[in-house]
Amino acid sequence: MTSCTIVIFGASGDLTRRKLIPALYLLFRKSRLPENTRIVGVARTEFGHDAWRDTLAESTARYAGGEFEQQAWREFASYLYYQQGDINRPADFAALGDFLRELEESRGATRVYYLATKPQLYADAVAQLGAAGLAEDSSGDRRIVLEKPFGTTLDTARRLNRAVHRVFQERQVYRIDHYLGKETVQNLLVLRFANSIFEPLWNRNFVDHVQITVAEEVSIADRAGYYDGSGILRDMFQNHLLQLMTITAMEAPVRFEADLVRDEKVKVLRSVRPLEVDDVHQDTVRAQYDGYLQEEGVPAASGTATFAVLKLWLDNWRWKDVPFYLRSGKAMSCRTTQIVIQFRQPPHMMFEEGGRTQLWDANRLVIQLQPAEGIQLQFQTKVPDAGMKLRLTDLDFRFAETFSGSMPDAYQRLLIDAVKGDASLFARSDEVELAWGIIDPIVAAWSRSAEPPLETYPVGLWGPDAATEWMREQGREWFDVCPVLR
Ligand code: BG6
Repeated sequence: MTSCTIVIFGASGDLTRRKLIPALYLLFRKSRLPENTRIVGVARTEFGHDAWRDTLAESTARYAGGEFEQQAWREFASYLYYQQGDINRPADFAALGDFLRELEESRGATRVYYLATKPQLYADAVAQLGAAGLAEDSSGDRRIVLEKPFGTTLDTARRLNRAVHRVFQERQVYRIDHYLGKETVQNLLVLRFANSIFEPLWNRNFVDHVQITVAEEVSIADRAGYYDGSGILRDMFQNHLLQLMTITAMEAPVRFEADLVRDEKVKVLRSVRPLEVDDVHQDTVRAQYDGYLQEEGVPAASGTATFAVLKLWLDNWRWKDVPFYLRSGKAMSCRTTQIVIQFRQPPHMMFEEGGRTQLWDANRLVIQLQPAEGIQLQFQTKVPDAGMKLRLTDLDFRFAETFSGSMPDAYQRLLIDAVKGDASLFARSDEVELAWGIIDPIVAAWSRSAEPPLETYPVGLWGPDAATEWMREQGREWFDVCPVLR
């Protein structure tokens, strides 16, 4: 493909400034964009092409790290165009169509429409694209990228899927979950399916349980307007945590192809045992950080959870009776995302001098997704010159040590995949709906019942004490280690 137009709706917004344009600029610098690329920003703000380019120069210099360079920026900026437009005005879409045809000189070009607007506008934007004839595939591929959140409940997600499918076919639709663009998430697929030593152990015969933790140090900052209505389950679990779980748990697809990968992920989501009301009481923990109610814009009596734990069971051959613990929170001790595969204890311990071993002394594989990407395998060794005393030690692999160059931001990978037409790392309609189907009943149960109680936790800890006790009652321990790899 030599010709591509990327049309960004929401061109004056934060996502465009902080993520999309810096990612496109960095792709340009690596010569990854097609030769004939044009990036057209659409928003209501009055801008000329140059004024838009100027504002982006500033923000890109800030967000592209040390990679910003004036000469390269000038070349890249010649790809950028601005078209004023309001999503509610059909005439603006007709004008956009004329502008795009002129820009593409009537030659067939792949077109990627990127919705970086408020999610409430997605359905209207899609309908307008359809009505203006801008979704038709006849003169080159047409694709649409939608940011998260995709709906706020199963019902709204279904309605949005229907609205999208009235205009675009599923093969044209790219639903973003930026966690899938993270290098280590993709590496998890490689670790599992390009090696033969892990696979025989990756099942109920050897694994006691799996912990998936996305801990954030940041609070909700100035996002109360969005966050208080959303809460941790909708903001992090429906998308990022369930995506990490599917990749950890799925069977090997036959090929690395969008639908084959997504078929396997969908099977995992289908195997999640539905939580009944009593299960929600027992198998979830919810909490709010101390000081949340004082954040600007948060209602005084808000019951929104900023921390949650879910225990999920996958009713399938591989994982029957292996709990998956999903945990995430704001204002925690540090920023770390890790998947911990906790293996079972050896069936018999003959080294009595080591004392009675506990589950947490058994082998563990820690896949650290961020901040420093890497993998740690923990295993027992003999302490030298100390009889038969044992100690848990580790083998570390750090991407940064093995590979030179900086780790690309998730948006680089996702944007280039959308441009190339590879949807493997994007969520399919059934995947999104199944994920809402898991989260919805928990949200509903929490809103109807006082159980489990909403705990509070001090800023800077691993969540409430209740979560620690709850795990101990099950004979297990959280792996509460701020990045094991640095
Ligand atoms: C977003 C959530 O999807 O992911 C935010 O809306 C959260 O609340 C963010 O902070 C975390 O992403 P990352 O890439 O910083 O782990």
